[in-house]
Amino acid sequence: MIYVSTPLGFNKKNINSILEVSNLNNKKNNITGCLIYRSDLYLQYLEGPSKELENTYNKILKDKRHSDIIKLSENNTKRRLFANWAMRGDPLITSMWNNKDVMEGTVKKLNSIEAFKIFETVSREIDQFN
Ligand SMILES: Cc1cc2nc3c(=O)[nH]c(=O)nc-3n(C[C@H](O)[C@H](O)[C@H](O)COP(=O)(O)O)c2cc1C
Repeated sequence: MIYVSTPLGFNKKNINSILEVSNLNNKKNNITGCLIYRSDLYLQYLEGPSKELENTYNKILKDKRHSDIIKLSENNTKRRLFANWAMRGDPLITSMWNNKDVMEGTVKKLNSIEAFKIFETVSREIDQFN
């Protein structure tokens, strides 16, 4: 599953605490994934058993640290992209969009395939260093 949202009160403390709790919970729930983040954007890829994913997404929907949450994609996949990451945090790749792109909602308009391709690219970049 992939969704995009707008951070509310984005700061280092918030993002660290989100990643910390996500790592703990996701390990328990057999969920893996990647959170691309910057001050004006969250873009998250979540993969795992559908029931656990649904529970986690329902919690995420209620979280006051972001708003304007839009699901971009939900598909069955055979293979995990982030098998070794309960939740990888990624601040870097977002140089692919400038502030104007994000303001104008470019990321919110990605289709399912485009959104998936972004995370496929991120996961390949990780592989190179393992
Ligand atoms: C952008 C964003 C991404 C999040 N990702 C996850 C996640 O992958 N897994 C998770 O358990 N919680 C995630 N959370 C946190 C949840 O919204 C919620 O605070 C947390 O799951 C509550 O955990 P608890 O039930 O153990 O208190 C995320 C929150 C935000 C704002």
